Amino acid sequence: MSSRIGFETLDDEMTLESLPTEGEIPEWLDGTLVRNGPAKFEVGGRNMNHWFDGFAMLHAFRLRDGEVGYRNRFLRSDAYTEATEEGNLTRREFATDPCRSIFKRLFQTFFGNDGTDNACVNVTRAADKHIAMTETPMDVVFDLETLETEGHFDYEDDLGLDTASAHPHFDFDREELLNLGLNFGGTSHYRIYTQPADSGSRASVVRHPVDRPGYMHSFAVTEKYVVMTECPWVLNPLTLLAFDKPFAEHFEWKPEQGSRFLVFDRNDGELVTEASGPAMFTFHHVNAWEDRGSLYVDLSAYPSAAAVESLMLDRLRTHSHGELGARMRRFEIPLNETSSAREHALPEHSLELPRIDYRPRNGRPYRYVWGVGQSDPGEFIDHLVKMDVDSGEVSTWSEDDAYPGEPVFVPRPDRDPDSGEDDGVILSVVLKGEDERSHLSIMDAADLEEIGRARLPHHIPFGFHGHFYG
Ligand SMILES: [Fe+2]
Repeated sequence: MSSRIGFETLDDEMTLESLPTEGEIPEWLDGTLVRNGPAKFEVGGRNMNHWFDGFAMLHAFRLRDGEVGYRNRFLRSDAYTEATEEGNLTRREFATDPCRSIFKRLFQTFFGNDGTDNACVNVTRAADKHIAMTETPMDVVFDLETLETEGHFDYEDDLGLDTASAHPHFDFDREELLNLGLNFGGTSHYRIYTQPADSGSRASVVRHPVDRPGYMHSFAVTEKYVVMTECPWVLNPLTLLAFDKPFAEHFEWKPEQGSRFLVFDRNDGELVTEASGPAMFTFHHVNAWEDRGSLYVDLSAYPSAAAVESLMLDRLRTHSHGELGARMRRFEIPLNETSSAREHALPEHSLELPRIDYRPRNGRPYRYVWGVGQSDPGEFIDHLVKMDVDSGEVSTWSEDDAYPGEPVFVPRPDRDPDSGEDDGVILSVVLKGEDERSHLSIMDAADLEEIGRARLPHHIPFGFHGHFYG
C-alpha cells in the first residue's frame, strides 16, 4: 500500500547523462522514449481534484549504445505558466475549475480557445514536430532533444473542434494521421479528421450529428473503416453553457441506453452501420479488424463510468479507489445489417493502458496485447500483463512494492514482421513505492522477463502514455 507517492508532485527538473543500470540494456535499442503525465497536483495551496488534472511533465529516456540518459521538464503550457505566475489555477481542467473568486473573467470553457492546454495525456508527431496532447484541440509542441516547449501547434485549417482525442491513429500506408473530435451545440457532432504526415492542415472526414454526445477517449481504425464506441456516459451540451462546474461533472451515467458502435467508411465518411452493445465504459480501444463481413473491435472496458470517479486523487491517495475493473472485451459488428454487436469471450484478467505491435498490426488481426493490471482492489496498478488473445494465455510480471506504467512495445529491428509479433522489448517506467524512486524497466516482450533497468534518483508520478521515437 505504498503507491501514494505516485500521486505526489515532482518539482525537480534535471538532465542526467547516464543513469546507473542493472542487467543489460540491449545495444539495438536506439531512440528516445518520451513519457507524458501529470507531475504537479497543487497550485497556490489548492489541490487538484483528479489524476487527469495535474500539470504535464515530459520525461525523456535516451537509449543508445547500451546506456540510458534522462531528462524531464514541465510542459510550459499557458495553463502551467499562468498558474505558476499567478499562484492560482486559471484554466478549467478535466475535473478541477479555477476558484470562483478568480473565475470572474469572461465565460470560460474546458475546451474552447481559453480552455486548458495542459497537454498531460500523450505525445505524437505530426508535420515533423513533436506534440503533447490532451483532450482539448490545443496541442503543444516540444523539442525532442531539450524537451523545451515551443508553443501551440499552428494548424493551417479551421476545423473548429471543441475537443480532440489524445489517441490519434497513424496509417503508415496512406502516411496520414486520423483523429477523433467533437463539436458541442444544440446538435453536437462526432468528428473524424485526417492530416497528412507532413502537413499542418487537417481535412474533415466524418461529421455525425448526436443530441447527447458520449465521452470518447479513443477510437479504432481498420483499412476501410473507423469505429467509435459511444458509451452511455453522456452530457446535455446545453448544460455546458448553463452550469458552472468542471467538465467531467456534466456527464451522466445512463446505463439504460446501452452502448453504441458507430462504423464509418474512411473514404467518404458515410455511416456504414451502427450496432448496440451492453452498458460499459471505456477509455482505450485496443484494436479492430475486418473479417468475413464483420468488424471486430477489442477494447479495455469498465462496468460503468464510476471508473472516472475512482481516479479522483483523494481516492487514489487513500487507496479507496476499489477495483478499477478494466477488462478486455471483444465485439463483433455485422457490417451489412443494423443489429446488436455479438460479444466474444476474452480472458477475465485486469488490463488497462493497452499497447500492441502497432505497426504493422493496427487495424488488422493481431495476437498479443500488453498492458497493466490490478490484482487487489486495495492496490493501484501493480503488474504488467501480456495477453494472447488467440489462445487466452496470460503472462504477468510483478515485483514486491512495484507499480509499473504503460508498457511500450519496441520491435527488434531485424525481426520477421510476420512471425515476430512479440520479438522485441517492453519499456515500462516502474515506481518502487517504499523507495520513492522510479526506474525504466526493459522486459523481453515474449515472456515479460526483465532484461535490464535504469534507476532514477527520484519518483515519477504515475503517468498515462508515451512513445518511442526510434
Ligand atoms: Fe489514454
